[in-house]
Amino acid sequence: MNRDIGVLISGRGSNLQAIIDATRAGRLDARLAVVISNRADAHGLERARAAGIETLVRDHRAHASRDAYEAVLVDDLRARDVQLVCLAGFMRLLGATFVNAFPNRILNIHPALLPAFPGLHAQRQALEHGAKLSGATVHFVDTNLDAGPIVLQAAVPVLDDDTEDTLAARILEQEHRIYPEAIQRILNGNWTITGRRVVFRRQA
Ligand code: GAR
Repeated sequence: MNRDIGVLISGRGSNLQAIIDATRAGRLDARLAVVISNRADAHGLERARAAGIETLVRDHRAHASRDAYEAVLVDDLRARDVQLVCLAGFMRLLGATFVNAFPNRILNIHPALLPAFPGLHAQRQALEHGAKLSGATVHFVDTNLDAGPIVLQAAVPVLDDDTEDTLAARILEQEHRIYPEAIQRILNGNWTITGRRVVFRRQA
């Protein structure tokens, strides 16, 4: 089995960069086969091009339905035989057409300790709720929003003088650390999903 991955982005692409950097540093044994953005102006596309990775722009607005759009993404990724799809700031909801094409093979990174604060503006939600801890979650993607089995999490404190930006920056540091690690552990195999629990077996 190859260790090719596809990364889906919509914007800045700092998590994509962390994945690229981890492969270069030898912390992540994976090959980025393709980076797909739903926006032509996503800065992450430049990061991918600079790293010599194939890029595709697939604008959701060019398709009549979500299913039609997702079918295109599925074709793109299958044509490249990717083992794992990594959502990295991809700001589109994915439905059954996409999710069922890659069962237990889609990861997402979310800037909160799920199941707290799913959806948009997770850092703002944490501040407004008065949470004292927040963090980052890598999880499998199912058809519910930010709801699939959790692979890795990291917690950070919420400080009294935090703004949305300072909290987001503290969380982002952890995102960049745990996303490549989670990808590596999933690609390595030796894990099972029992109920909602992702359990890593010890390597022999
Ligand atoms: C990251 O903070 C990621 O966790 C978040 O968008 C940002 C993308 O940044 N994703 C979500 O909120 C998904 N619900 P990046 O483009 O620099 O990686």
